[in-house]
Amino acid sequence: MAAPTANSPAHVAIIMDGNGRWATQRGLPRAEGHRRGVETVRTITFAARDLGVRMLTLYAFSIENWKRPQDEVGTLMSLLEFYLKKELETFVRDRVRFRTIGRTEELPAGIRKLLTATAEETKHFTDYTLVLALNYGARTEVMDAARAYAAAVANGEAKLNDPNWSSFSRYLYTSDMPDPDLVIRTSGERRVSNFLLLQAAYAEFVFTPVLWPDFTKADLEAAIADYNRRERRFGLTSEQIRATAPANVR
Ligand code: IPE
Ligand code: IPE
Ligand code: MG
Repeated sequence: MAAPTANSPAHVAIIMDGNGRWATQRGLPRAEGHRRGVETVRTITFAARDLGVRMLTLYAFSIENWKRPQDEVGTLMSLLEFYLKKELETFVRDRVRFRTIGRTEELPAGIRKLLTATAEETKHFTDYTLVLALNYGARTEVMDAARAYAAAVANGEAKLNDPNWSSFSRYLYTSDMPDPDLVIRTSGERRVSNFLLLQAAYAEFVFTPVLWPDFTKADLEAAIADYNRRERRFGLTSEQIRATAPANVR
């Protein structure tokens, strides 16, 4: 395993896009693009860890994706089921903690069972976490959080007159996760498509034209190198940031 660099982004989130176009360009059915996309998920899961990343979040299925043709939704669900059945053993062997964000309760029962089992059997691993965003949408997440917050206010667990970001963000799906440092989108699209809108408030974005089935460890390395050339200021001035940065990242 390569030694992590001092400034590897701790949490990388990826909008995996371009499976359909990858297949269409080759005269193949879109399903073939999704199958190849799963191979990339496997490669990148371990590549990210080799590069010193501690948490990898992959946008696998959005709430809006239900509106695709029924047979494509069916293909994506069966691929997910196949992937989960095959990966559990690998996650346990390679000490990958697995978890999800999104309304997983609306996914088919077979998948829900696999998700629960995989999360349960890997929950004690602490070095590296893979998060799948499944049936995820940021706007739905905010509405779910607002509802949970209102219920907590009603039963006295939360105070209405004392809301700050750390008390409210506890009701998001990501309550126990760090914010993403780097968000990558493949396939040349430059939009967020309802992904981690609040958590990515200060994330760095890298857009690459590479289609997801073609995305390699070298592409991830290039995105991380791009991230490392930037200065994250969080609203402060460059001078303030340089005054507080540890010597090795100055
Ligand atoms: C990403 O590839 C996979 C999902 C959104 C599930 P797409 O299927 O969106 O591929 P394009 O954008 O049509 O090429
Ligand atoms: C975003 O990709 C969702 C996932 C990667 C799961 P889409 O392909 O669904 O996004 P749009 O429709 O191009 O914005
Ligand atoms: Mg797409």
